This record gives sequence, C-alpha cells and structure tokens, in this order.
Amino acid sequence: MTTSMDAAGWTTAARIYNSAVASWAIAAAWEIGALDELEAAGVLDSDDYALSNGLNPPATLAMFRALSSAGVVHRDGTKITPTDSFQELRQTASLFHWLVRGSAELFRQMPSVLREENRVGDFYRRDPAAIARACKDISTFCYDPWFWRAMDGLDFDVRAVADLGCGSGERLVQILRRYPAARGIGVDIAAESLAVAAQDAAAAGLADRLTFTVGDMLELAPRPEYAEVDVLTCFMAGHDFWPREQAVRALARLREVFPNVRRFLIGDATRSVDVPDTELRVFTLGFEVGHDLMGDFLPTARDWESVFEPAGWRLRHTHRIDMVANEVIFELDRI
Ligand SMILES: C[S@@+](CC[C@H](N)C(=O)[O-])C[C@H]1O[C@@H](n2cnc3c(N)ncnc32)[C@H](O)[C@@H]1O
Repeated sequence: MTTSMDAAGWTTAARIYNSAVASWAIAAAWEIGALDELEAAGVLDSDDYALSNGLNPPATLAMFRALSSAGVVHRDGTKITPTDSFQELRQTASLFHWLVRGSAELFRQMPSVLREENRVGDFYRRDPAAIARACKDISTFCYDPWFWRAMDGLDFDVRAVADLGCGSGERLVQILRRYPAARGIGVDIAAESLAVAAQDAAAAGLADRLTFTVGDMLELAPRPEYAEVDVLTCFMAGHDFWPREQAVRALARLREVFPNVRRFLIGDATRSVDVPDTELRVFTLGFEVGHDLMGDFLPTARDWESVFEPAGWRLRHTHRIDMVANEVIFELDRI
C-alpha cells in the first residue's frame, strides 16, 4: 500500500503537475498584460500590480507563484522579477494560450472524446475567439517573416486578397497596410472570430476596404468579388481541407471560385515525422494530440506536396520554417 511517506519522492509527478498549473498562469499573465508589464518594468510588486489593474491581490499573487514554481519569474514575497527563462516563455506564451484558453474544453473532455460512441456530430468544443487571439501572435514568429518574403516576391500589383480561415483578420489588416490600393475579403466558419475581426478592422480604419464573410472554405460558391481576387492566402487553417481526396477537391474548387488568382499562399503546421515522443518541441504535442482528439487528419509536408498538381496548382516554392510544429508555406500558382 502507498503511504504519505512517499510523497517527497514523487518529483516527476510534482514537476508535471506544477507545469500544468503554470501553463494556465502563463496564458493568463499574457492575456492580462502582466508579462509585458514585467518586461517593461523589470520588477513588479504583485499587490500594487493587482490594485492598479482591478485584480484580486491574493489571486494575482497565486498566478505569480505558479509562474515562479516553473522558473518563469523569481518571487520574493510580493516582489516579482524575470528569470533567465522569462523571455522564452514570454515569446511562446500564445502557444500556451492556444492550449489552455482556446482548446481547454477539448482536453477537459478527453475521456468522453476518446469513446467511439461519442464521436458523432459536434462532439467537442473549443473557443474560436481565444484561438484566433493566440494565432494572431503565433503568426508573428512562426510565419510572418517567411510570409512577407513570399509577398515581396510577387511580380504584379496586388488588387484584391482573400484570406481563408482568416480568424482575427490580422493578416488582411497587415496586407492592406502594405498595399494601400488593395481590397481584402476574410472568410471564416466562426462568426465569433469575425465579429472581433470586423471591430479590429474598423479600429484600423480599414472598414471600407476589408469585408468579412462567414463561410466554409470547402464549400465556397463563386461571387463577383471573388473574381477580382489575385492573391489567395490560407494560414493555420489548411489542414481542414484534408483528408487527401477532400483536399484535392477543395483546392480544385478554389481554383474555380477564384478564377483570377495569380498566387495562392498556404501556411500551416504539418505532422511531425519520426520524432521520438520525448523529444517533441513546445506546441507539437498539443497541436497533434488536439487534432487527433478532434479526428482531424494532419498532413505531413510531403502529403501536401502530393495534392497540388492534381488540383490544378503548381508548387513554385516551399518555405520550410520548422519552428514549433513543422510549419511550411507553399507558394502556388495556377497550372
Ligand atoms: C488556427 S486559426 C488561424 C487563423 C488565421 N488564419 C491566422 O493566421 O491567425 C484557424 C481558423 O480557420 C477557421 N476554419 C477552420 N475550418 C474552416 C473552414 N472549413 N472554413 C473556413 N474557416 C475555417 C477557424 O474558424 C479559425 O479561425
């Protein structure tokens, strides 16, 4: 029989358990702006920070304690300072947000989601607005430098861009800032995300050039405004085209729905190949386990490369980014 005497030796359990608690604290501290404020100030008093931000002081100290337990900050009473690991966690905080704010309900329901009998209809829930918020930040370090390299390589004037699975709409905002004469169309299946995207676009002064439509990118029908689109983008959403036959059909359909597209940029995480379970980078495990729970097929980069030609698209170039989840950007044009 196990006795309480053993508890001091349960260091593996403590490390895993405390990391789980710290994951929630990282996502929370990022969302409320505490990580930014600590970086800017170099030191914070937890009670002062709580009082000046309308937060409960003991609860706020508990959040910093969880961060301290995982080595993200040093804590001396209520005095909080960054550790050497702080920058790494601050940069990757949106990956934690994706997991514990955006996908929490899916992971919470794991026992039920595993059962075959439950895997029908809408058998899981996630928070699309939280995922859109996380992805807006994830994009800045996982895709944007390579995305802009691809855009800078365009040899034509951009008149209209459509972004499929646009989420927060941030990519379109950035593109329209770069191309002041261009118009943008954002398509997403989640109305909650588009409501936030429309507000952000209006705040950016782009309401007259940027429109958002609720729609399924697999089932789009031609529209007059789609015929004007010359650049099509799809970031962190392309795996929803899969499995293979459906992807070929959907990509071929997009070729017809957007008949004048000259460049199609698809950026997405891809399934890891032959990485030992104990050597996975941050995010890869959450991303792959999450999609397996949802029953989503996650293509490898090689799987992707096999569908373009049958769907009528030529692969001009593959950017192999390989940051946290084997990200790639494919540059396509019409065959
Ligand atoms: C991970 S987020 C990425 C958001 C955005 N592209 C970005 O780069 O930040 C994926 C988005 O794809 C949307 N999505 C998923 N399946 C879709 C579908 N079949 N049609 C349209 N949007 C879809 C989701 O609602 C979500 O906003």
